[in-house]
Amino acid sequence: MIDRDLYPVSPEWAARAHMNREAYEAARVAARETPEAFWAEQARRLDWITPPTVIKDVSFDKDDFRIRWFADGALNVCFNCVDRHLPERADQMAILWEGDEPDQSGGLTYVELHREVCRMANVLKSLGVKKGDRVTIYLPMIPAAAVAMLACARIGAIHSVVFGGFSPDSIAGRIEDCGSRLVITADEGLRGGKRVPLKANVDAALEKVAVETVLVISHTNADVPMTGGRDFRYGELKQGVSDDCPCEPMNAEDPLFILYTSGSTGKPKGVLHTTGGYLFWVSWTHELVFDYRPGEVFWCTADVGWVTGHSYVVYGPLANAGTTLMFEGVPNHPTVSRVWEVVDKHRVEIFYTAPTALRALMREGDDPVKATSRASLRLLGTVGEPINPEAWRWYHEVVGESRLPIVDTWWQTETGGVLVSPLPGATDLKPGSATRPLPGVELQLVDAEGGVLEGATSGNLVITDSWPGQMRTVWGDPQRFFDTYFSAYPGKYFTGDGCRRDEDGDYWITGRVDDVINVSGHRMGTAEVESALVLHPDVAEAAVVGFPHDIKGQGIYAYVTLNAGVEATEALRADLVRHVRAEIGPIAAPDVIHWAPGLPKTRSGKIMRRILRKIAEGETGALGDTSTLADPAVVEALVAGRG
Ligand code: WTA
Repeated sequence: MIDRDLYPVSPEWAARAHMNREAYEAARVAARETPEAFWAEQARRLDWITPPTVIKDVSFDKDDFRIRWFADGALNVCFNCVDRHLPERADQMAILWEGDEPDQSGGLTYVELHREVCRMANVLKSLGVKKGDRVTIYLPMIPAAAVAMLACARIGAIHSVVFGGFSPDSIAGRIEDCGSRLVITADEGLRGGKRVPLKANVDAALEKVAVETVLVISHTNADVPMTGGRDFRYGELKQGVSDDCPCEPMNAEDPLFILYTSGSTGKPKGVLHTTGGYLFWVSWTHELVFDYRPGEVFWCTADVGWVTGHSYVVYGPLANAGTTLMFEGVPNHPTVSRVWEVVDKHRVEIFYTAPTALRALMREGDDPVKATSRASLRLLGTVGEPINPEAWRWYHEVVGESRLPIVDTWWQTETGGVLVSPLPGATDLKPGSATRPLPGVELQLVDAEGGVLEGATSGNLVITDSWPGQMRTVWGDPQRFFDTYFSAYPGKYFTGDGCRRDEDGDYWITGRVDDVINVSGHRMGTAEVESALVLHPDVAEAAVVGFPHDIKGQGIYAYVTLNAGVEATEALRADLVRHVRAEIGPIAAPDVIHWAPGLPKTRSGKIMRRILRKIAEGETGALGDTSTLADPAVVEALVAGRG
């Protein structure tokens, strides 16, 4: 199928962009043919204490496995994101903050950010935090979240940010896995007029796992209980420290952060990113993909608890001397015009969000958008899941008044930053396609046996060579890293995504091919939800699959088998949903609970998810071959029970 719904690069964009078509093609060739020279040159965008001479040291082979970039270089991430901008931009806004209510806003200039980060770094040091220690950050979308991350980077501590929507159990699991010494949290967060009990959640988590210290930032000034000897008010400690703190020199391969993400097994993986390669990648991609110039107002709506927030709220924009907007609230509070009002209020130039948010806003009609000006905007972006062409066109025509390019950026927690995306001055746009790989990104489509597929085709998306922003390992479990990403197709990184390539060579991501589902742009492992369900005393067994959902992209469909003698009631259904919310967090709440007298299993006991997916999708007439099932009658019962 040829897709000719093309939106060509405009002459103005080709003229003004950092990279036009010729430059893009030349960079692709240079990155492929002379990678050492190419990356050495590009890496000069960072300020190095010791510039690297060893550029790329990589092997995806089992016996010789290593991923190292700029390995003899030294630098400090915080210096690159803050200090180096002070001579020219001390009074430029570094962070703009928009609170939950429209009358709450603020921010920090670069000189203020420097002072805040130094204070936080000195407080951490005074509490005994040293280079290499892990610090868990559980904060709302307030400037202090960025300050906390940068303060860790300044002293060489490794941060692990936990999304503020995760439950006490999820926090505890993440603290335990990486062995954090200290947690930075706030009294409460605010979202859509509701209070989020952050400190209370940390207290509950710490009933299961111990940390030495909890640092509490006052945000709503709620009266929260403090445990003597363990909990400290940041506002008080901050008074007693200097606002000057030297940057710790870090090796390029020293860890910068751990971020937990869902995989095919029950336990989230601690994705580890390091100092040099990661910072380089987010800075370089932020400039190229968004055609970014220092000082432009950039708004990425992601929470800092996700990788998008790490890379394009905090590190990318700040490394590029940007002004980054942090929004604590939600798109429909107090009205469904809020997002566009924030754009007008802060004169946002580049806006980057998830398709799920666009679909939700699109449902409210065009008027809430048209009531605003949006004249400051010059570029739009999306991330997190495939964008359906209908939502793309609405974004383009209504939000962008048919004058703004849209960059559909494909990437993953594991990739650090964007790998596949149009460049606004180089790439013709196609609604629904992430189009082309960035220079240095070598994609292939393979079949289930690993055979390489050529031309216009569909297959599993793999990457055949490393890029600087690639994750380095799973924290504490290098074997799991290798097995998850490099064992399916030896010598290649397996993304877990399916993908189509069209006649023009453009890529269309079709979604996960493993047991990961994408709910409102958030990754969720089906096994995680299953583990939570079977913890409930009434549940014998559970199987979870994704199903198409108009707004969320995918919803969570749970088949639940109850213990003998337990009655399937509406009250129990509600209780199971409540239970999963409490175990993992609201984003994991099942949309559908389907009472299953039994689950379709093969004779060897493996659940046949293909069949469960079909039933969840309502395609009960096309279940395919069920003859290998131990008990085919189970399927009939499930179809009958769909209701
Ligand atoms: C999906 C988020 C289609 C994909 C940055 C990937 C996308 C997973 C896109 C990673 C896109 C992300 N088009 N699918 N533009 N961007 N995805 O780790 O399935 O939260 O594997 O990283 O999101 O999700 P993660």
